[in-house]
Amino acid sequence: MADPIPLHVNGAERRITAPAGLSLLSALRDQLDLTGAKYSCGEGQCGACTVLIDGKPVRSCLVPAASAAGKRIETVEGLERNGVLHPLQQAFLDKAAFQCGYCTPGFLMASVALLRRRPNPTPTQIRSELNGHLCRCGAYPRIVEAVRIAASRKR
Ligand code: FES
Ligand code: FES
Repeated sequence: MADPIPLHVNGAERRITAPAGLSLLSALRDQLDLTGAKYSCGEGQCGACTVLIDGKPVRSCLVPAASAAGKRIETVEGLERNGVLHPLQQAFLDKAAFQCGYCTPGFLMASVALLRRRPNPTPTQIRSELNGHLCRCGAYPRIVEAVRIAASRKR
């Protein structure tokens, strides 16, 4: 039986058991009940599983859970604070920047990383950063607008 692996998730110390090959996405969803990050392609092609590791967006379907030990993991569940949505979550709601919402956690986490690095991105920079995230519902224009609005509210 594999030894428990410590994960630092959304500011809390958690433990998982990670058989060889278990992805971080599976560990988050199946062992820690953090189901915000979504499984879609499972091949790093869609972005639905995006979480942050040490502040950088990663496709958690491709990351071995064991390799995340000791690193700072952020998921969409950690964005809301004391019942108040993150400005990006609020802007996505205000602009209806989703339809089914399956892609939304991935877009949100990538956008969080973008706004930390670049607080006032242009629409071109937003599109470039989110390039590679797929939204089958075609909410792209509203997603870009929501990120722009969140950035303006944070200023
Ligand atoms: S499920 Fe990970 S990139 Fe598609
Ligand atoms: S809102 Fe449905 S996939 Fe993006």
